[in-house]
Amino acid sequence: MMKRSLSLVCFVMALVAYPGAHAQQQPNAYAISSAHELATQAGVTIFEQGGNAYDAAVAVSAALAVVEPASSGIGGGGFWMLQSHDDALSVMVDGREVAPAAAHRDMYLDDEGNVDRDLATNGGLAAGIPGAPAAWVHIAEKYGTLPLSVLLQPAIDLAANGFPADEKYVTLLAMREEVMNRWPETAEIFMPEGNVPSVGDIIVQADLANTLRTLAERGHDGFYTGEIAQRLVDGTRAAGGIWTMEDLANYSVKERDPITTEYRGYELISAAPPSSGGITIAQILNLIEPYELSELTRVERTHLLAEAMRRAYRDRALYLGDTDFVDVPMDVLLSKAYAAGMRTSLRLDQATPSSMLANDPDVRPEGNNTTHFSLIDDEGNMVSATLTVNLLYGAAYVPPGTGVLLNNEMDDFSAKPGAPNAFGLVGFEANAIEPYKRMLSSMSPTIVRSPQRVAVIGTPGGSRIITMVLLGLLDFIDGNGPQSWVSLPRFHHQYLPDEISIEPDSMSAAEIEALEALGHTVTERDRTWGNMHGVMWDLMSNELEAAHDPRWPSGGAVVVPVTD
Ligand code: DON
Repeated sequence: MMKRSLSLVCFVMALVAYPGAHAQQQPNAYAISSAHELATQAGVTIFEQGGNAYDAAVAVSAALAVVEPASSGIGGGGFWMLQSHDDALSVMVDGREVAPAAAHRDMYLDDEGNVDRDLATNGGLAAGIPGAPAAWVHIAEKYGTLPLSVLLQPAIDLAANGFPADEKYVTLLAMREEVMNRWPETAEIFMPEGNVPSVGDIIVQADLANTLRTLAERGHDGFYTGEIAQRLVDGTRAAGGIWTMEDLANYSVKERDPITTEYRGYELISAAPPSSGGITIAQILNLIEPYELSELTRVERTHLLAEAMRRAYRDRALYLGDTDFVDVPMDVLLSKAYAAGMRTSLRLDQATPSSMLANDPDVRPEGNNTTHFSLIDDEGNMVSATLTVNLLYGAAYVPPGTGVLLNNEMDDFSAKPGAPNAFGLVGFEANAIEPYKRMLSSMSPTIVRSPQRVAVIGTPGGSRIITMVLLGLLDFIDGNGPQSWVSLPRFHHQYLPDEISIEPDSMSAAEIEALEALGHTVTERDRTWGNMHGVMWDLMSNELEAAHDPRWPSGGAVVVPVTD
């Protein structure tokens, strides 16, 4: 009798907590974690006006575009995972940049057939056709409840009235000082008298405020046709680019089904192609699923994960690209059987050199920046969004009179088979440049759920995004909250270069030695990486938690109760 009533209690609890089964459960609070307090505040303002998670996502994205220009912007793109608690909505809004029509596979090769890195990353030719403004309009019109003009107002105010430069803004700008001074139209806005501003200086972006106003008034067409489009095209062409009015007019957002997989009772919902994130994370999870991670030492766990990362990143290099252009064998790559086959070469007592998995071109070290935010509203609607202009301050070029700092996303294509990009990533045919194709991304906005708990998680960090999200979600599955996920020490393997890179002081000498004895090369970097933002909903206690990465203190994480 005793046993019976206990199991009845358990059954009822599971029913109450299961997402979808009891869709009426609501957190009665909202939570936001973004890379900038002012962007988080923009989201709070929208929630206070009665907006939902999707409204807030537009406001946070647009505000980040103003206050964090190094990382994302109206001249860039991103992926927005929109997920309702009851599963009525589960979609990835793909606002990724596309190659202009005149792009071709060899466009960055010099006379000797080598990739011209400067051409691929700086100035007009480096920029893909932006997707961010189209995505903001799309999300607002299709899923929001407030007018676009209301959602963009916080960003317009921040651009028109300015915001104080913080430590991060100044540090990242200094890293691009030379390129930001190349074009007077960029320098005029970001480099007063050719100098990096000081902390506390007010950064005003008057042209950007006007462009945002036009977008607010005219919607999609306000950016992609008419006067602003003409200025973008003229400016880009004057700076070595190849954009046309038709390229802008042809841009459209795509809706994609997220990549989903089950891992030990948890459901992963993550980014679909043209991101490699969801597939690569799912492949790593499938590879490690039979192992009891909690029974492994830290060295064994690092080794196992590095071996799984190596294999999944190899597939990324070989097979992944824009599915509108190439056939990606998604069903195979995501199947448990494929993982089982791959696992047969994975040894716990020895590293497999990447050269044994395929040939081994040279690689270069990492690049930097992008942004992510996670949020959830009081009804349990969630947004996990990762946004980018690619490298710091994108292509460092602002077409005159637009305030639009252009991305340098073209470098995410494989400019030459096997030649590494800024993140050391290699690619082949699947990610070759083609007109209107979307370049392969690592951005991995993700949601992970069990009947008890939900995590909304993501981070910038180029090729390392995938492994950071993986480590974060495994920590969530281990029972920890967002403060722990975002603070974890990080390590990474991406097939090539054939090394485990680790954050400074994150492993003992003995652990490094033990990994080397297994056949790994361990490279301790001199800088940390990533800027993770996580939100968790505990369905059992009905509580929300939010945390931003301690590596960048300027982040803003809030949980605000909602009372009727
Ligand atoms: O889409 C991608 O994968 C890259 N453009 C992201 C760049 C990035 O995260 C830079 N941050 N460190």
